[in-house]
Amino acid sequence: MDHNKLALPVGTTLDRFIMRKQEDFPYATGELSQLLRDIALAAKIVNREINRSGLIDIAGAYGSQNVQGEDQQKLDVIANIRFIRALRNGGEVCTIISEEDEDMIQTGNNQGKYVVAIDPLDGSSNIDVNVSIGTIFSIYRRVSPTGTEGTEQDCLQTGTHQVAAGYVIYGSSTMLVYTTGNGVNGFTYEHSLGEFFLSHPNISTPKTGAIYSVNEGSSEYFSEAMAAYVAYCKQQNFSARYIGSLVADFHRNLLKGGIYMYPATKKAPNGKLRLMYECNALAFIVEQAGGKSSNGRSRTLEIEPKGLHDRSPLFIGSTELVEKAEEFLAAEYTDALASM
Ligand code: AHG
Ligand code: MN
Ligand code: MN
Repeated sequence: MDHNKLALPVGTTLDRFIMRKQEDFPYATGELSQLLRDIALAAKIVNREINRSGLIDIAGAYGSQNVQGEDQQKLDVIANIRFIRALRNGGEVCTIISEEDEDMIQTGNNQGKYVVAIDPLDGSSNIDVNVSIGTIFSIYRRVSPTGTEGTEQDCLQTGTHQVAAGYVIYGSSTMLVYTTGNGVNGFTYEHSLGEFFLSHPNISTPKTGAIYSVNEGSSEYFSEAMAAYVAYCKQQNFSARYIGSLVADFHRNLLKGGIYMYPATKKAPNGKLRLMYECNALAFIVEQAGGKSSNGRSRTLEIEPKGLHDRSPLFIGSTELVEKAEEFLAAEYTDALASM
């Protein structure tokens, strides 16, 4: 009898995968492995809270605003607490910056070699209506000496300096997708075992695609060049897909091919998305999967951050589509220069 057929192997757990890949890390001391495991643990806890949110009065508004002036949802606040606590307890991180906190958070672990930037709950407006939401994180190695508190300089590194980045999508299934600069791997959460299992090894994104994702409700505020690119997508008969949770829109396009856009608009000259908490992590992932990310003109990962909460326009996804968008937008920049 073929025993394998009777009981199929359950596959590779995230923990085992991280340990196996440890030697790939630029500084293979095990600390980054531990840090990734801390994030996975917090993701499991947040996943549990999201799944039962309708039952225990943690859906809905918290009654406060975050530093961006956006209404905080209870789950925004809960997810923020969960991730910060896990990172603090883990001991590998000296400083955290979060979309939900105005200032740097010092963990008290001054020996920690890493800095984490996090959007603990992405897609807040979808929490109450059972639509996919996510978590996005970037990990940097500190530049200041260990033994002291992390500094703003540690936190304000360009995306090229990320040593790892990832996201969790709480969707029809819960997945954790991450990169340490050697390709992108996706893990699906198996609730009954409480483990993430490798389900999407070596993700590579299609070079082109037929999906465009943008909030066209804002098209009145688009530049002419931006409007022209959207018209081009329609001429190509692309499908419009926009969930309103960046993680979910990005994840779909990563697997299927497509472009996600949050452009600069007349209302929001730098777009809406945050460079440190959203754009950089996804840019690192998309490049590792063979795609591209840009602010319409230059590579996302090379944008110099000036402040913790900087925003950036985002054009991300299949290389051919992002390059085409850049071609269209180049006209806009040429016009702007001519009028100076
Ligand atoms: P967050 O919930 O972390 O504040 O992020 C919301 C972001 C992003 O997830 C999404 O793509 C975008 O906001 C949607 O914005 P619009 O409603 O302006 O399209
Ligand atoms: Mn977000
Ligand atoms: Mn958020």
